Amino acid sequence: MRNKVVIIGAGLMGSGIAAVSALSGNMTILVEKNNELSARGIKNAGGNIRELCENGLAEDAAAGKAYGLLSAGEDMAKACEEAFIVIEAIVENLEAKKEIFSRLDSLLPAEVPILSNTSGLRITDIASDTVHPERTMTAHFWFPAHLVPLVEVVMSERTDIDMAQKVKSMLADWGKKPVLVRRDVPGQLANRILQAVIREATSIVETGLASPEDVDTAVKAGMGIRFPVWGPLEHIDAVGLDLGLSVQQTVLPDINNEDKPVESLKKLVDEGNLGYKTGKGYYDWSEKDMEGLAALRNDFIIYALKMLKQRN
Ligand SMILES: NC(=O)c1ccc[n+]([C@@H]2O[C@H](COP(=O)([O-])OP(=O)(O)OC[C@H]3O[C@@H](n4cnc5c(N)ncnc54)[C@H](O)[C@@H]3O)[C@@H](O)[C@H]2O)c1
Repeated sequence: MRNKVVIIGAGLMGSGIAAVSALSGNMTILVEKNNELSARGIKNAGGNIRELCENGLAEDAAAGKAYGLLSAGEDMAKACEEAFIVIEAIVENLEAKKEIFSRLDSLLPAEVPILSNTSGLRITDIASDTVHPERTMTAHFWFPAHLVPLVEVVMSERTDIDMAQKVKSMLADWGKKPVLVRRDVPGQLANRILQAVIREATSIVETGLASPEDVDTAVKAGMGIRFPVWGPLEHIDAVGLDLGLSVQQTVLPDINNEDKPVESLKKLVDEGNLGYKTGKGYYDWSEKDMEGLAALRNDFIIYALKMLKQRN
């Protein structure tokens, strides 16, 4: 009987996705390279479930049941015998993902969807060696997958639209906020928007219009604080499209529209300044607390999710 979710790769993302799947009542098998790694994945998935529960984002009963729904599998073929859906979350490497997709395609009947959590590879390429590419698609969960609601369902050139719609509605049943991306383009959907923001933010710093601190403050304290409940298209409709048009006519000619990376960002990278991991980027991280910032980010997401849950 096909009644299990199979997740290939139980790292950072696989364990988050496993928590979401098990909390929705699915028997969930985590397939890894060895038992030690799948045990680590199950432990981390359990930690994610606990975090949701402790913060009022999951019911005690569902959480109690979810721990028991997680299991480990080293044998992909065996796990696939009972899968009604498979989600691949291994390393971001095209050849490795192609190989897994090709194996999964030969193991699973054509009606079982095969999803990749790729952040940036084309699903058309990942599925290029499959016999049934119509059941393949990207399901791009965002980190941390148990907290961030968005999942981008991206269709390849050959994905079946009905299959993609079914996966989208299943993810909505899992409590996620899925969106359908109809073409296999770089940046999927949300990263295209994020890159437009980052290009302008880095340009503003490069031209000396404002400091990195002030750019981040402008985003966090201005548009960013509204964004969880107020999208850019809702915004432009609210203020009036005539005003929106006039602002575009004034501002667009003056903002960065280059199709290459921002020069000063490239210079920082060339000099070995890679941000937090080398201690210096736009900020000096020997003076700034990344752990505290990441904790504040997660607390804020939890706070916002709780508030939205109460309103629904
Ligand atoms: N980390 C993020 O913020 C993030 C966000 C969204 C999407 N993604 C994407 O999700 C995917 C996974 O990223 P991650 O951050 O979880 O990586 P990770 O390195 O934490 O985990 C990858 C796991 O896959 C396992 N693995 C590798 N090959 C395998 C195989 N053949 N069979 C079974 N397991 C295998 C590894 O042992 C490892 O545990 C990547 O495609 C990445 O681009 C990452």
